[in-house]
Amino acid sequence: MNLNGKVAIVTGASRGIGRQAAIQLAQSGVKVAVNYSSNKAKADEVVQFIEQFGGQAVAIRADVSKVNEVEAMFSETIEKFGRIDILVNNAAIMECKAIADVTEEMFDRHFAINVKGTYFACQQAMEHMGNGGTIINFSTSVSGAMLPTYSVYAATKGAVEQLTRQLAKEFSSKDIVINCIAPGQVSTELFLNGKSQELIDSFSRMNAFGRLGEPEDIANAIELLVSDKARWITGQTIRINGGFN
Ligand SMILES: NC(=O)c1ccc[n+]([C@@H]2O[C@H](COP(=O)([O-])OP(=O)(O)OC[C@H]3O[C@@H](n4cnc5c(N)ncnc54)[C@H](OP(=O)(O)O)[C@@H]3O)[C@@H](O)[C@H]2O)c1
Repeated sequence: MNLNGKVAIVTGASRGIGRQAAIQLAQSGVKVAVNYSSNKAKADEVVQFIEQFGGQAVAIRADVSKVNEVEAMFSETIEKFGRIDILVNNAAIMECKAIADVTEEMFDRHFAINVKGTYFACQQAMEHMGNGGTIINFSTSVSGAMLPTYSVYAATKGAVEQLTRQLAKEFSSKDIVINCIAPGQVSTELFLNGKSQELIDSFSRMNAFGRLGEPEDIANAIELLVSDKARWITGQTIRINGGFN
């Protein structure tokens, strides 16, 4: 796919799905702002990887839960690359706890990063993105499985799905499409951390292909959604999960 000249911000691109999305977009000719919150070395490594194949990227630190840092991330991207065409609101956290163990701090932190971060990045996109842009938000397929201990995380993703639907008509005024990707289990730190091999194996067996998703599986879907052929898709949540549910 040729996306030469376009500019993307990928939040949470130092690792996992965001890293792979940044690399694949850059391989298609997109100039990429590689956002991270704390992992500068990893973000720099993504930029170096992109530059090695002739792509263009810049690492930008911003905690997406802080509106002023989100604003600065958009300003820095425009300063560096002159425009913004694609926003991938990928950054998120996930902690799984039974309701009795959920603290106010954990609840607020999840909503601040996963929901507030996504929302105010969309607000910046409304201000700075050119006509014909694309926004991709992130939910999860796990919501459909109603698993115990996922209540806070799944609630944040429910909010992201709804704000995606809600904003589609506002963004249409700038011919911007906005959708939400809901991955199934993907082999990244977010999914693997704290799980036994037995639990990981049991999750792997839950989809149609009997394996975990890989970051490429999700980055491939992002590439489909940023293509010119996807301009009639907006306000949707699309499950990318190998038939998990
Ligand atoms: N993996 C799965 O199985 C799965 C399933 C369904 C949905 N998802 C969704 O897919 C997306 C990517 O997940 P992943 O598995 O790739 O996660 P991951 O491997 O844990 O990576 C998370 C990324 O988000 C960044 N981040 C965390 N807090 C941030 C903040 N406050 N501000 C800016 N960046 C922040 C991290 O940056 P640092 O490195 O600097 O900390 C990192 O780059 C998330 O929205 C997640 O909910 C994942």
